[in-house]
Amino acid sequence: MRKSPASKTSTAKGQHRERQPSSPAPAAPGGLKILFVASECAPYAKVGGLGDVVAALPKALRKLGHDARIVMPLYASINREKYGIKFVKSACVHMGGREEQWIGVFEAVLDKQVPVWFVDCQRYFGRPGIYDEPWGEYDDNAFRYALLSKAALQICKDENFTPDVMHAHDWMTSLVPVFLKTWDRILSPLSNTASVLTIHNVGYQGKYHISAFPYIGIGWEYYAPDIFEDYGKINLLKAGLWFTDAITAVSPTYAREILEPLGGQGMAPYLNNRKADLVGILNGCDYEHWNPETDRMIAHKYSARDVRGKAACKADLQKRFGLQQREDWPVFGIVSRFADQKGFNLIKEALPRALNTMVMQVAVLGTGDSSTENFFHWLTAKYPGRVGSYIGFSTELSHVVEAGSDFFLMPSLYEPCGLNQMYSMKYGTLPIVRATGGLDDSVQNYNQSTGEGTGFKFLAPTGQALYDTIGWTVSTWFDRPHHIAKLRESAMAQEFSWEDSARKYVEVYERAIKKRRGTT
Ligand code: ADP
Ligand code: GLC
Repeated sequence: MRKSPASKTSTAKGQHRERQPSSPAPAAPGGLKILFVASECAPYAKVGGLGDVVAALPKALRKLGHDARIVMPLYASINREKYGIKFVKSACVHMGGREEQWIGVFEAVLDKQVPVWFVDCQRYFGRPGIYDEPWGEYDDNAFRYALLSKAALQICKDENFTPDVMHAHDWMTSLVPVFLKTWDRILSPLSNTASVLTIHNVGYQGKYHISAFPYIGIGWEYYAPDIFEDYGKINLLKAGLWFTDAITAVSPTYAREILEPLGGQGMAPYLNNRKADLVGILNGCDYEHWNPETDRMIAHKYSARDVRGKAACKADLQKRFGLQQREDWPVFGIVSRFADQKGFNLIKEALPRALNTMVMQVAVLGTGDSSTENFFHWLTAKYPGRVGSYIGFSTELSHVVEAGSDFFLMPSLYEPCGLNQMYSMKYGTLPIVRATGGLDDSVQNYNQSTGEGTGFKFLAPTGQALYDTIGWTVSTWFDRPHHIAKLRESAMAQEFSWEDSARKYVEVYERAIKKRRGTT
């Protein structure tokens, strides 16, 4: 079936000219060409930390002299005018079943540094949500992200951009490694391009009805238990793990956890098959966007040297969230997707008990599971002036909560990396975390005899353990304020540098390239 061009402004299709999309700085000699293919990238479209990472890592790579670029969908919610997103050309993407899908290719430059290509396709991305809407997940997500992944290859071809590496993220772009190894579009120019697949969260694998398989358009021999097949369905992440040249997970501890049956959530056997190619690299923190010294979204700027402005931020948070103006009461912040992964069962058990027995306030920002949304509506009504909630997504309020809170609650059942605990530390807001994944790697537990540490950790995944830890923080707040000051100072001094992480990714890219070119 032939589809008409996706954009009304489209001109001729697929001209083969050498185009440099408003690229601010070309790669240094010897630098790599790296193309990120992702479903989210802040600030254009973001649901969680994936969007933050896809925005920050290419910037860090460019600073190291590599030519990193991004391909992502042009969702209907993205404001083209605000971000200067311009039409480039239309392109034809060849999917399975001889289906030709016309797309519009648009471009912009992220943070004046990273060229971004957007895939415009009314059929798949012209809707209000990213993955879902309040009534549920889009049932054609396999088709939507198959198209995005294939479109990324087509854009490389049409734009004469031959990356050394294509870097895919989670199940949404797990088909990039698949297409790279199976694409035979007449002597593919990408036959030397390696692939790296980053696992941000193995809890989401892209399991879909087999009816999407013909659209992906590869042979039925790949519908095998080690590759696509998953109890009669298709599993996009599993296929990506089979085909990719290298795999990364977003923290060293998480890279170990996913090799175990519990942490691997069904993927452990396949990850163990690829263990030699799996590396854990801790995410960084983008201090261009998350820094109380320069943050324009908070009431008062402050720094580790002069932390006085934090009190004004706390007063602002209390005002905005309808909390009593009490400087002396500790405020516990939450900014989260409302998903089981984040430990809301523990919170539901521990918070009402803590509010009944301790002097504390809670400010919540989040959206997701309706049962958790209802819980916070109930909690806010039950403890007026002590609990405030905003059910929704607001980047501005996420900064307000980080800056104004004293403690940050993140009792995740599992956490591949977690960014909010890193933001919290920079804002002098002490994270309370369960010792799992990236939370364990990035937070040092409070030592009550020395006052050392950067937050509070507990291990047991129970409401009781969280309740006890909240009790520990509240008693520290009232009984050992000098320790709170010391913890805050240590937390604010932490440096989760994207530059270090980017260097580690470059090592992975180089190994993947060697593998792809058969030199290892
Ligand atoms: P995850 O990716 O699993 O959701 P992370 O801690 O890695 O967890 O990243 C979450 C990101 O999403 C952070 O940037 C956080 O501030 C943001 N975020 C989560 N929920 C909201 C919300 N309701 N409003 C604004 N930002 C949010
Ligand atoms: C995922 C994980 C989170 C991680 C983020 C960015 O959403 O749940 O822990 O920080 O990806 O890598």
